[in-house]
Amino acid sequence: MYDFKPDETAAPAERYRQLGQAAQALIEAESDAVANMANIAALLWEFIPRMNWAGFYRVVDGELVLGPFVGRPACIRIPMGQGVCGAAAATGETQLVEDVHAFPGHIACDAVTQSELVVPVIRDGKVIAVIDCDSPEPARFSEEDAAGLEALARDIAHSI
Ligand code: SME
Repeated sequence: MYDFKPDETAAPAERYRQLGQAAQALIEAESDAVANMANIAALLWEFIPRMNWAGFYRVVDGELVLGPFVGRPACIRIPMGQGVCGAAAATGETQLVEDVHAFPGHIACDAVTQSELVVPVIRDGKVIAVIDCDSPEPARFSEEDAAGLEALARDIAHSI
């Protein structure tokens, strides 16, 4: 049985360290990308509070295609450069958006979402996927969340 539980009292940086450890434990012996993304999406949900959606979009034939996630059903295909996920994929840079309604071209998969953090997963210099975290709270995500997810993205790049 896997029983990875966040320490509710830990500061964000420590929670991301624990999330990274749990992810490593789950993916180190597994080579299947879908299985690994599914477990990592579940860990994001467990370790990062106050979200309504967390998961992956993968770069497939030049566009983003929905991958494993936790949350409500979401947009399946997103053109490169479009919305927050498309911007992260096209630029290779983290998108920390305090107010999604102010983001040009934001794709509202769920009207509840107010803020969003999208981090590219880069392998051999290419964006292969993005990690998308959405929250119903405005300005939910901080630079600490961004740094934590960027570290996770680096650690999983060869396992998804
Ligand atoms: N809001 C995202 C689309 C993905 S869903 O929120 C799950 C965006 O603008 O990239």
